[in-house]
Amino acid sequence: MQLIRRNRILRQSPATRALVSETILHPADFIVPMFIIEGSKVQEEIASMPGYFRRSIDLTVAEVKELWNMGIRCVLLFIKCKDELKDNKGTEALNPNGLMQRSIKAIKDACPDMVVMTDVALDPFSSFGHDGIVENNEIVNDPTVEVLAKMSVSHAMAGADFVAPSDMMDGRVLAIRLALEEAGYTKTGIMSYSAKYASCFYGPFRDALDSAPGFGDKKTYQMDYANRIEAVKETLMDVEEGADIVMVKPAMAYLDIIREVADAVQVPVSAYHVSGEYAMIKAAAKMGWLDENKAIIESLTGIKRAGAKLIATYFAKDAVKLLNR
Ligand code: PBG
Repeated sequence: MQLIRRNRILRQSPATRALVSETILHPADFIVPMFIIEGSKVQEEIASMPGYFRRSIDLTVAEVKELWNMGIRCVLLFIKCKDELKDNKGTEALNPNGLMQRSIKAIKDACPDMVVMTDVALDPFSSFGHDGIVENNEIVNDPTVEVLAKMSVSHAMAGADFVAPSDMMDGRVLAIRLALEEAGYTKTGIMSYSAKYASCFYGPFRDALDSAPGFGDKKTYQMDYANRIEAVKETLMDVEEGADIVMVKPAMAYLDIIREVADAVQVPVSAYHVSGEYAMIKAAAKMGWLDENKAIIESLTGIKRAGAKLIATYFAKDAVKLLNR
């Protein structure tokens, strides 16, 4: 055979492959989600997320220091609110001394350079488990946005570097931006969950925070997974409204959306490799059906190759260890 193009030349050895590799994961690509609970010295494994924990503030702080020393530069905070503090309006979300606000302060005190992002949505605080205020069995947009804007200012006041609205209400990015400006928080960023789909892959997360919706589902605010054009529309609008970073969520069933969004916007794109995606790899690995380490790196590399500069993932720590090998 005489060929003038032999594609295998570039694949022949690890060194050659390294030379032409297009996508390289870096510890600073990762955003580490953290689940925080009340108490001290408490660490609880999440049943549907083996190897992942809810921790009290003290142990969360210790973990953040460890992450920093590994080269990780960003954490995304979620809190588990006590049942007796939940109501329809998410009142506890605005408590200046609430668990979220105390967590932000403790982390920024101990590790001031770590970029701290906070989840902004009502579901952990809602007696209905919905991301917004409920009236007559509907999730109402505009009153919810008012609370989200106040919640964002409260997080900024506690020291958050970025607020991350994950609620999918209309107009919330603009409202948050204006509220931050008005309160003088001109250095607080917004990472918007711009294209967040109504997905079954959030199941384990809702166990982690005990935040499953009490009635109905989230399809009147989160997007229909059949749709593509809507993702671009949502993302472009969020950028216009002042989002600094936009997010696509979940990740692996939405790689086409990540690519399309990355091509459409001029801001960094993040993707959320969600709890169900974590659980699937963990379960298959436990059964001996997948090589966990290989599945982690291949998944995360695929998400980055699709166009995500940042990846929120429960595998961040594992990935950094594997990259350093
Ligand atoms: C809530 C929120 C969810 C996740 C992040 N923020 C759950 C939901 O929308 O029901 C999911 C994260 C994951 O599954 O890992 N606003």
